[in-house]
Amino acid sequence: MADSCSPVIPRHVAIIMDGNGRWAAARSLPRAIGHREGTKAVRRTIEAAIGQGVQYLTLFAFSSENWQRPAEEVTDLTGLLRYYLRNELNELHESGVRLVVIGERDRFGPNLAAELAAAEAKTEHNAKLTLVMALSYGGRADIVDAARRALAAGLAPDQLTEEKFASLLATDGIPDPDLLIRTSGEERISNFLLWQTAYAELYFTDVLWPDFEGADFTMALAEFARRERRFGARPE
Ligand code: IPE
Ligand code: IPE
Ligand code: MG
Repeated sequence: MADSCSPVIPRHVAIIMDGNGRWAAARSLPRAIGHREGTKAVRRTIEAAIGQGVQYLTLFAFSSENWQRPAEEVTDLTGLLRYYLRNELNELHESGVRLVVIGERDRFGPNLAAELAAAEAKTEHNAKLTLVMALSYGGRADIVDAARRALAAGLAPDQLTEEKFASLLATDGIPDPDLLIRTSGEERISNFLLWQTAYAELYFTDVLWPDFEGADFTMALAEFARRERRFGARPE
């Protein structure tokens, strides 16, 4: 049973969208096709999140470590990101989605970085759903960047509280994820939101990301509603 500390609908759902390559391999298709199919699952998931009243949805689309993949795959993924942005932005905007990008966007080059910034600016007053896209994101890099900002600001050691530190992370202003979903059967964090998922409920499914449907999202939310969140406090 959910207690009073855990609303039945998670305010913030974060997803490690994994399994595009295996989805394609199972069909003897190039990995790029798996990534393309994955964007359809992104669309379905955003719709499902809005439908369920989720306020924040964070999608891990490209990790700091994904730059180590073959250049061809990196190019495919970058191209797909650009295509997605150009084709979906208007619809996202009309649906009331606010886009926020976390990660080292500059590594995608000045043009795409500028397009991402323009998309954020265009949607900044939307309030239906905040869609956080983690692009070239790494949890450790986020923490190191926050430490650097604290040093650069000349903070005294006793001024650096947990709240202050959280405000120096890329996710400043965004509540911590309540529910973290990972698809494809892998059960690891892969350097996603390390600080922010301290008390997230973890949900792993064997479904490969391109197969992820609105009903799978609903199932994850139903499981979340059955969890008892205690945050270290004594159970009632
Ligand atoms: C997730 O699918 C997409 C990204 C990491 C960019 P993968 O490409 O990791 O697919 P698998 O894990 O090889 O199946
Ligand atoms: C995590 O998936 C990153 C994203 C989904 C963007 P990976 O496929 O890169 O993670 P590992 O290599 O299996 O840990
Ligand atoms: Mg993977």
